[in-house]
Amino acid sequence: MSKKIEKILKKKNKKKIVSLTAYSKNIAKILDKYCDIILVGDSLANVLYGMNNTHHVNLDTMIKHTQSVKKGIKKSLLVVDMPKGSYKNPNQAKKNAKLIFSKTKCDAVKIESNNKNFKIIQEIIKAKIPVMGHIGYTPQFKKKFKVEGKNKTEIKKLIKEALLIEKAGAFSIVLECLTPSTAKIISKILKIPTIGIGSSSNCDGQILVTDDILGLSGFYPKFVKKYASLKSVIEKAVEKYSKEVISKTFPKNKNFLYGK
Ligand code: KIV
Repeated sequence: MSKKIEKILKKKNKKKIVSLTAYSKNIAKILDKYCDIILVGDSLANVLYGMNNTHHVNLDTMIKHTQSVKKGIKKSLLVVDMPKGSYKNPNQAKKNAKLIFSKTKCDAVKIESNNKNFKIIQEIIKAKIPVMGHIGYTPQFKKKFKVEGKNKTEIKKLIKEALLIEKAGAFSIVLECLTPSTAKIISKILKIPTIGIGSSSNCDGQILVTDDILGLSGFYPKFVKKYASLKSVIEKAVEKYSKEVISKTFPKNKNFLYGK
């Protein structure tokens, strides 16, 4: 097991795990100082590429963005989402996880659970590639957004799914949009850390999409806290630039590369 993963595991029941998404070097460089885990999420399909869902982002796109993010990271654990369709069976999953691993030098891959793909997780781990699981609202497999764990049957199903992912060898698991009590039970039962998104503070860590917390994406469900309004900061800067170009106040002589 790598030192970085060991460090994450040791935080369970001691210190909360801080995670955010990144899709490029410059943002990753800023996050690296404050995050334990940086995820190149397939949410880049919606956030960057304006797609309606995450279903059509391919392996090559995930690899290219991860290569960029890797350049900004010194200490955080770099996790990459395996895109939909890239882990349909154990052999394909292993081949594609190895490709991501070798081309990006990431630390782990994340696999969304469909409550069936435990053997796939196991096979990737056998190839010495650490896996992060993901249960609850898993956009690759579920069309409708829904909070899960609202009744006994759902809670039992989610606990069983989380335990099977842990048994398959995952080093941690994302709990997306679970009820606080379900997140609490799962975080207590599992030995591996749980990373929550929309699942309350009853998890071992938290993850959010960086563009959402910076006020860039326009997507602000209740579980997102907007820590900045970059949209208006950028808008002001661009408006000023536009005005200065039109009024010929930019560029000035000092901006010329040659002569006066
Ligand atoms: O794709 C993503 O960004 C994710 C996180 C929201 C957990 O899976």
